[in-house]
Amino acid sequence: MKRLDGKVVVVTGAARGQGAAEAEALAREGARVVATDVRPQGDCRRLDVTDEDDWAELAAELGESYGRVDGLVNNAGITWRARLGEVRPEDFASVHAVNVTGPLLAVQHLTPLMPPGSSIVNVGSTAALTGHYPVAYTSSKWALRGLSRTAAMELGPRGIRVNTVHPGFIETEMTASAAPGFREANLRQTPLGRTGTPAEVAALVVFLLSDEASFITGAEIPVDGGLTSHGGAKSLSEAVR
Ligand code: NAI
Repeated sequence: MKRLDGKVVVVTGAARGQGAAEAEALAREGARVVATDVRPQGDCRRLDVTDEDDWAELAAELGESYGRVDGLVNNAGITWRARLGEVRPEDFASVHAVNVTGPLLAVQHLTPLMPPGSSIVNVGSTAALTGHYPVAYTSSKWALRGLSRTAAMELGPRGIRVNTVHPGFIETEMTASAAPGFREANLRQTPLGRTGTPAEVAALVVFLLSDEASFITGAEIPVDGGLTSHGGAKSLSEAVR
């Protein structure tokens, strides 16, 4: 018996990076994975998380083919690296559309199909725990925390769990496009002294979607090598060593 045998799980942003790793890990544990992406590749289905019609269409199809959805991973996300003084409102809005409105639409359209015991995982970021400089991204991920907490409260009585994972520096195309110096600065702040892999985030997502996590909801779990655990005190510790 595998940990997710027979569960129908929707993953957004699953064409590459962490989403692809999550889809793979979930399928390995027996889930029937519905991998989606705005730029689909391979077995992915096309779905733009900001498009309400895309969600309505997916929900109708899943209702017909399975009659249920047991899991949802709101993984799709984009960044925008403009700083506070220069970010344009339209860019700020488009980051929020993908990172916050997308998960909201997913919850609105898929939870009617979710039986008790279902599980939703939202992919936040260590940016959601700090004052990270890309302000559109940071504020969108903080907003996603709020959405997750409200959803956990509202959906709890129906037996639906909602949790958030906060990846630190994970090796994907998103971090590959970061400014020079970003990786080194992250390594200096990370107690484990290395970056993480998509598989290390996927392992937690599998656990949270499984019945092993049956009493865990409204939780937020960093997968960041300790980056956010010291609250900045690592550099102090090193300065006085
Ligand atoms: P990535 O850029 O490699 O992959 C993101 C995927 O989302 C892509 O396949 C992209 O096509 C898809 N996507 C973008 N907009 C979409 C939309 N409107 N609708 C549907 N799909 C869309 O990024 P990565 O690193 O795999 O990121 C996954 C999640 O993890 C994101 O939410 C990101 O914010 C978060 N994260 C990533 C970290 C990292 O170090 N890589 C750190 C913290 C959080």
